[in-house]
Amino acid sequence: MERMQDEKPPKKVTLYLLFSISTAVIGSLQFGYNTGVINAPEQKLRRFFQNVSMERYGEPFSPGTNTMVWSFAVAIFSVGGMVGSFSVGAVVTKFGRRKSMLLANILAIIGGGFMGLSGLARSYEMVIVGRLIIGVFCGLCTGLTPMYVGEIAPTALRGAFGTLHQLGVVIGILVAQVFGLEFLLGSDLLWPLLLALTILPAIVQSILLPFCPESPRYLLIVLNQEEEARKAMVRLRGCEDVSDDINEMKEEGMKMALEKKVTIPELFRSPNYRQPIIIAIILQLSQQLSGINAVFYYSTGIFDTAGVTQPIYATIGAGVVNTVFTVVSLFLVERAGRRTLHMIGLAGMAFFALIMTISLALVKANPSLSYLAIVAVFGFVASFEMGPGPIPWFIVAELFSQGPRPAAMAVSGLSNWTANFLVGLGFPKLEELCGPYVFIIFMVLLILFFIFTFLRVPETRGRTFDDIAQGFAASAGKSLRGF
Ligand code: GLC
Repeated sequence: MERMQDEKPPKKVTLYLLFSISTAVIGSLQFGYNTGVINAPEQKLRRFFQNVSMERYGEPFSPGTNTMVWSFAVAIFSVGGMVGSFSVGAVVTKFGRRKSMLLANILAIIGGGFMGLSGLARSYEMVIVGRLIIGVFCGLCTGLTPMYVGEIAPTALRGAFGTLHQLGVVIGILVAQVFGLEFLLGSDLLWPLLLALTILPAIVQSILLPFCPESPRYLLIVLNQEEEARKAMVRLRGCEDVSDDINEMKEEGMKMALEKKVTIPELFRSPNYRQPIIIAIILQLSQQLSGINAVFYYSTGIFDTAGVTQPIYATIGAGVVNTVFTVVSLFLVERAGRRTLHMIGLAGMAFFALIMTISLALVKANPSLSYLAIVAVFGFVASFEMGPGPIPWFIVAELFSQGPRPAAMAVSGLSNWTANFLVGLGFPKLEELCGPYVFIIFMVLLILFFIFTFLRVPETRGRTFDDIAQGFAASAGKSLRGF
């Protein structure tokens, strides 16, 4: 692992640390898988709904009703996500990080069970209920994994490990895209299995989690169990002397003890937290309102419009580019820093949104521009993964110390999922209204987010949680107007 010149050498990366982080990242994989899985089998599911209607009522659904049932099954996932992500704060404070991940898996098993048995039970309602439960589960995952990983990673590698969450997500999407091919699990017969497959990683993670430590920060700062925290830290760091880590946590804990418990309204009221919570929310919005999921939910349609002959393979191509560039970001994030990568990513996305618009607008007159559309989508996705993909997920854990962190994760997670829901629901309508110019909307938003990041987002690379929190407190003190 590489290190920067301006700070202490990172602690050794132990196998145990890698094992614990990999186990947690199974949650990210789950989020990605369930995000991507519904795309490919659309026609099969629609047909299933029709058949059930025939069996029950003697006639098929009208096309309008069918589309409604379908859209509901798709969108209810994000509604579940909003509920799950917003519950993260309360759940981790009550059960701790590790047990919360364990408990969340029960939802994956129930939700996967509903979807897997829906075919046999001839029930489209079970698909919808299953998607809702899986959404809640994924909402929890998007808070639990980054929080646990951020808390156990050594400071100098927090960004790189944090990016592993996004790597899990993108691999999950890619696996879902590939498994969803008709000759694999995306067939009329096997789609319930495709949807139920999420149960498998849930079981694997449940078996592995008992071997992972509880987050030492939770043990020490929240439960005040110093000995337990030290033991966990010794195993994670692979050396007996963990006094630096313990002292840093104690210091953070002491400062926290001086404050009262941080509730969600408190985040907005206190001048110390107002600035970081606004930054956290806007970074999450910049991720979703960049339009990335317009591509991941609807790319096959976009490629189709652009005259690409095998759109499904172009979609898988986007999944591959997505994965490759997340790996690139993984190696850059501790060198270039979060702020710079986020800005490079946003600028790149704005540029490729423009190229995409030009190619979509002119493709009818000039069919060879369909290649340019593919390049534009790939460039858009690659830029996303440089910064806007991974960074918002883990930077929230960095912007806050132990006290406000759960509440901040809940608020920012909810913002992310709400924006995700709005884009998922609104994009087809916007496309209908704006035609090939739809990505101009995202381009404008991307430019605004770029300006915000330039003006407001501090660099967090290599800094302790406490130092980052101090930075905000100092700037809140300077400007009594607050943010
Ligand atoms: C991020 C987003 C998610 C998106 C994915 C694409 O994790 O949160 O909504 O689908 O990136 O790689």
